[in-house]
Amino acid sequence: MTDLTQLQQQAETELAASQDDAALEAWRIKYISRKGLIPAAVKQIGALPPEERAAYGQAVNRLKQGVQAAFEVRQQAVKEASLQAELTAEGIDVTLPGRRPQLGRLHPISRTLRQIYDIFGSMGFQIYTARDVETDETNFQLLNFPKGHPAREMQDTFHTTVPDVLLRTHTSPGQIHAMRDYHPEPIRVILPGKCYRYEQVTARSEMMFYQVEGLAVGHSITFADLKGTLHAFANQLFGEGRQLRFRCSHFPFTEPSAEVDIDCILCGGKGCRVCKYSGWLEILGCGMVHPTVLRNGGYDPDIYSGYAFGMGPERISMLLHGIDDIRYFYANDARFLPQFA
Ligand code: PHE
Repeated sequence: MTDLTQLQQQAETELAASQDDAALEAWRIKYISRKGLIPAAVKQIGALPPEERAAYGQAVNRLKQGVQAAFEVRQQAVKEASLQAELTAEGIDVTLPGRRPQLGRLHPISRTLRQIYDIFGSMGFQIYTARDVETDETNFQLLNFPKGHPAREMQDTFHTTVPDVLLRTHTSPGQIHAMRDYHPEPIRVILPGKCYRYEQVTARSEMMFYQVEGLAVGHSITFADLKGTLHAFANQLFGEGRQLRFRCSHFPFTEPSAEVDIDCILCGGKGCRVCKYSGWLEILGCGMVHPTVLRNGGYDPDIYSGYAFGMGPERISMLLHGIDDIRYFYANDARFLPQFA
C-alpha cells in the first residue's frame, strides 16, 4: 500500500523545485495525469479490506485535492515569474527623449521660383509649362534661328540619337507652344522649366539650369509695357527703389531686343567685386516678339504685338543670397542646401 504521507511530501518537494513550464509539465505527468502516481494511489481503494476503505479513501482524496491546488498555485507563480523576467530583459525606458524626425525643406531654386510665380501671379500671369525635349524646329527654326545661323552658336546643344530631336537650350520654344494653344486669345504667361546646354561647367554656368520665360501677346502691347512689368517685378523681388538699365542686344526671336541690368544690390551702384565695379548686374534678356515669331505662333503681326523676356532663377538666387558658385545648387551638398530654410 502506498504511503500517502511520503507521496505527498515527495510531490510537494518536486513541485517546489519546478522552475519552468517544461518542469511543471513533467511533474503533472508524473503525479496527476491519468497514469500518474496519485490516480494510481486512488485505484488502490478497491484492493483494501472494506473496513479500511473509508479512511484511506478520505485520505487519498484530500491528498489529491491538496496536490492539485498546489499545482495550480505553482503554475501561476511560474507564469508570473517568466513574464517579469521578460519585461526586465526588454526594458523600455519611457523617459528617454524621442528621435527628432528629419524635416525636408524646399530647394533654394524652388523657393526662388515660387517668389517669381507669386510676383507675376499678382500681375495676372498664368504659369504655362512646356516640354523639356524639343525639336530643332521649335527650339530654333520657328524662333528665327534658321539652320546654319550663327546665333545658334550661343547655345551649344545636346542632340539626341533621333535626328532633329534635342533637349531645349532655352524656354523660348514654349512661346510657340503657348501661342498655338492660346490663339486667338491674348496671352499673359510665364514659362518656367529646365534647360540644357552642352557647356563646360564653371562657377558661372551649369549644363542644366532653370529659366523663367515671360510672354505677353495682345493688342497695342508696347515696349513701355515690358519696361513697366519688369520694373514692378524687380522692385518686388529685390526691394523698392531698384534702378533698371536696358542695354541694346540681339536675340533672333525679339526685335528690338535688350538685356536688363539692376543697380547692384550689394554696393547700391558704387561698384564692387560682384558687379565687377560696374555698379550693374545683368538679370535677364527681353524684347518685343519678332513679327515672324508671332506669325509662326498663329498671330497676325499687323494686328497683334507682344513682348517676351527670359531670366535665370539660379542667377537671381545667387544675387539674392550672395552665392558665388552656381555648381552648389545641384551638387547636393548637405552643408549648402539646409542654409535656405
Ligand atoms: N531665350 C533667351 C536665352 O536663353 C532669353 C530670352 C528670352 C531673350 C525671351 C529674349 C526674350 O538667352
